[in-house]
This record gives sequence, C-alpha cells and structure tokens, in this order.
Amino acid sequence: MKTINIAIDGPSGAGKSSISRTVANELGFIHADTGAMYRAIGLYAIRHDCLEPEKLIEKLKNIRVELKFIGGVQRVLLCGEDVSDYIRSPEVSMAASAVSAVGEVRAHLLDLQKKIAAENNVIMDGRDIGAVILPHADLKIFLTASAEERASRRYLELREKPDCPPYEKILEDIVQRDYNDSHRAIAPLQKAEDAVLLDTSNMGFNEVVEHVTAMIREILD
Ligand code: DC
Repeated sequence: MKTINIAIDGPSGAGKSSISRTVANELGFIHADTGAMYRAIGLYAIRHDCLEPEKLIEKLKNIRVELKFIGGVQRVLLCGEDVSDYIRSPEVSMAASAVSAVGEVRAHLLDLQKKIAAENNVIMDGRDIGAVILPHADLKIFLTASAEERASRRYLELREKPDCPPYEKILEDIVQRDYNDSHRAIAPLQKAEDAVLLDTSNMGFNEVVEHVTAMIREILD
C-alpha cells in the first residue's frame, strides 16, 4: 500500500513540531519529529562524554534510537530507555545541533526515517526531509518565521518556568542554531525546490494548522 508522506522543514522554533502534531492528529496520520532523534543522540553524547565527532562515530554502533507511537503520540527511545522528557533542555539542543552536523550520525538515522515513511501515513518534520530523506514526498512545506518572532514564541512558552532564560538569550541561541544548521557541510537546512514556503510570522497557531490541513486535504482528494 502506498503511504502518504508529508515533509515539513524549517528552522528551530518555527512551530514545525506542534503544527505537525496537531495536523497529524486531525488527519489520523502519525507525526515523526526527526529532531527528537538528533536530540536523543545529543543526550547520549553528553552522558558518555563523546561530543567530539571522532569519539561519537566510534560509539555510534552502540546508539540505538527508536520512535514509538503511543495513541499517535511520539516517544523517543535511546537504547531502550524512553528519554522523551530529557531532550528539550538548552544543553541538549546545542548538543543535537552539533551531532547533527556529523555525516555518520545522519546516515545512522536515515534508514529509520525512510522506514517510518514507507510504513505509515506520516507528517515528518526536520531540516532535510523534503530535500534528502523524502524527495518524493506527496507535499513539502517549508515553515518559517522571523528569528525575533520565534524567540518571542519560545519565551512565552517558557516564561512560567523557574529557569526561563531571558528573551535575549533565547534569541541568541536561535540565531546561533540557525547559523549552525544552515552552514554545515552535510544536509544543511534548506528549502527543497518544490516545497511550499509558509512564513508564519504574522499568523496565529490555529490559522497555520487550518492552512496546512487544507493543503494536505487538497492532495488527498
Ligand atoms: O527540530 P529540533 O530543534 O528538535 O532539532 C534539533 C537539532 O537537530 C537541530 O539543531 C537541527 C537538527 N536536525 C537536523 O539536522 N535534521 C533534522 N531532520 C532534524 C533536526
């Protein structure tokens, strides 16, 4: 059976994951957040002190990443341990950005990402999904927003937490990660030529969800 594959790419904090999750839920698709896989490897590198590429490459054969979908909700497993709740800290974000620049790490995750798409109707989000992982996706969307808008959304999300960083620090991290993700040699963040560009700087969450859902429904008809 041919599965429906939707690729959503874009920079950090553009809302890819929350939009993809909500739309997938509405359409009965699964949502595969590939950033979580890089985050799991980043966590492994922190825990095992192997952030340098040579050390990490040596350990790759021991690093087993899996996605489980429980009631449509993604959990990420690292060597059998559910690490979903430990991969969202700023430290893991930076580690994920670093490990994702290593070609061997990307190759390590490629088969898993392709297999998920071959077996499921999926909305897969990341940085290189439309350009590299699913070049024949049924629909490709490049979701973006200005760095300031993305930082202010993240700040609003985090501000109730006791260790919420100041807005300026969040913005600085976003600008740094944008730079890292789009200047690396291998699979840099890029809009696939045939992807639809959606700039959400001036759109509300529900508006984006409706827009993306409508685009997908159109190709399903
Ligand atoms: O989407 P995210 O912020 O959770 O992603 C974490 C890091 O992983 C980010 O720095 C970019 C990287 N990444 C990637 O290189 N390729 C992907 N398909 C997904 C994420």
